[in-house]
Amino acid sequence: MIMDRKEFLSQMGLGVASLLVPVCIGGLSSCSKVGSGTPAPSNVDFTIDTSKGALSVNGGYLLQSGVIVARTKTGTFIAVSAACTHEGTNVNYSSSSASFICPNHGARFNESGAVTQGPASKSLTKYNTILTGMSLRVYS
Ligand code: FES
Repeated sequence: MIMDRKEFLSQMGLGVASLLVPVCIGGLSSCSKVGSGTPAPSNVDFTIDTSKGALSVNGGYLLQSGVIVARTKTGTFIAVSAACTHEGTNVNYSSSSASFICPNHGARFNESGAVTQGPASKSLTKYNTILTGMSLRVYS
């Protein structure tokens, strides 16, 4: 018995539509997950009152507008983009290790935002900070 392609596919349980569904094969960039995570915020410019809340104590930190703002154990204020450059999970700050740590896959960044441990390979974006009295300005 000779069957044509349509009959063959029909008997195999494969309709023509199923052949049109894209299939991801490892290594094809069009199917792979984008590894650069969430873009760092640009045009950042906001002010925080450091007399209260998380930034009123050394080691405290908070997230605002996609930026993680931290007060180091010596009282210096630092700010970097919050989204891990691996897959975008927000990082936490550890004053004891002077690091930003991603809770998702364990990437670490120093207080300047540079990668100190993978799997992330790109630095966090560092923002400027200036303290006037108790008012902290964070800006690009
Ligand atoms: S999302 Fe941060 S290490 Fe993977």
